[in-house]
Amino acid sequence: MSIKFKNALVTGGAGFIGSHLVDALLDEGCAVTVLDNLSTGHLYNLKHIKDSITFYKGDIQNPKTLMKAVRYCDVVFHQAAMVSVPQTVEHPVDSARINDIGTLMVLDAARKNNVRRVILASSCAVYGTDPNLPKTENMQPRPFSPYAVQKLTGEFYARLYYDLYKLETVCLRYFNVYGPRQDPSSPYSGVISIFMNKAVSQKQPLIYGDGNQYRDFVFVKDAVRANLLAATSEGAGGGIFNVGTGSSVRVRQLWKEICRMSGTDIAPRYESPRPGDIRESLADISLAKSALGFEPEYKFEKGLEMTYNWYKESVKSEVPD
Ligand code: NAD
Ligand code: UD1
Repeated sequence: MSIKFKNALVTGGAGFIGSHLVDALLDEGCAVTVLDNLSTGHLYNLKHIKDSITFYKGDIQNPKTLMKAVRYCDVVFHQAAMVSVPQTVEHPVDSARINDIGTLMVLDAARKNNVRRVILASSCAVYGTDPNLPKTENMQPRPFSPYAVQKLTGEFYARLYYDLYKLETVCLRYFNVYGPRQDPSSPYSGVISIFMNKAVSQKQPLIYGDGNQYRDFVFVKDAVRANLLAATSEGAGGGIFNVGTGSSVRVRQLWKEICRMSGTDIAPRYESPRPGDIRESLADISLAKSALGFEPEYKFEKGLEMTYNWYKESVKSEVPD
């Protein structure tokens, strides 16, 4: 890795992707601070490393806590957000406070504290209704939900802070990230976590639409590696990169695969498509490959199996909050 850093802040570090990122940063020998309001994240995601990090329970919109958390950091990984597309459809204003103003506040705190680089968790949702596939970073975004508009706004601010204030920012457009620790407990949770939970507890899943919609599912450890590469690659500042795999799985096929893995044979229930949902999603990752050296290492079958084993174990141990 060509750019070195010692102190990192992970906003949303008690969440699914953030907590894996914290693990990886500690493995790299970094001092890690986490700022999280525990709205969807959990302390048990950090239990195994709680004595090795500095944890602030607080909101990214609280300037005092934010400034305390950012101080002395070289790199900020901004993961905190209202993550669910349908939840932002229901709460367009509240979600904008977190996803837009919150992101702006993180960028500004970084600027004021001379942070070297900020990595923003953006989303492939910004491509929205553009029917062309696979998605390349130079396509015209056509956001189709408040969430997508908010992530796109975050990208614009990131670029502005790069141009205007010379703060190095890198935006990662994650496709659908999955893996251990993704919280399945809400109807807003990611589809793989919900389906895993259904399979383990032998319950019927719900499919919105005909189930032929598809997603490019990327394993969480690959998304984490993309973050480390984005933080350390020379010349990545000001850039936007897709983080996916370049292959896709239909939702209906996903349930079949999980059934096969778990020995389940339950037919799903079908309901109307969710408002704001995009239909198809597939990443072109050639830019991330050439500029960051990013290559996904986990094949879907392997990642899905690791994820299934984790859900099976976590049901046994009934992790407390
Ligand atoms: P998550 O819900 O597990 O993590 C989000 C974390 O942010 C949680 O720990 C939550 O408590 C915290 N948080 C939320 N609002 C906060 C606030 N106002 N102040 C402080 N902390 C706050 O979700 P995740 O899947 O780990 O998502 C991480 C990031 O990646 C998000 O920005 C999300 O939009 C983005 N993303 C996720 C996916 C995916 O498939 N999971 C895909 C694209 C983009
Ligand atoms: C997810 C992420 C979002 C990210 C986006 C990138 C979560 C909660 N959301 O949104 O942050 O920016 O990927 O693409 O992680 N579905 C069902 N049954 C269910 C749940 C979902 O059929 O029980 C369907 C949905 O209607 C959708 C697909 O599965 O068509 C994927 O849904 P979901 O996992 O919520 O992902 P996205 O909406 O793509």
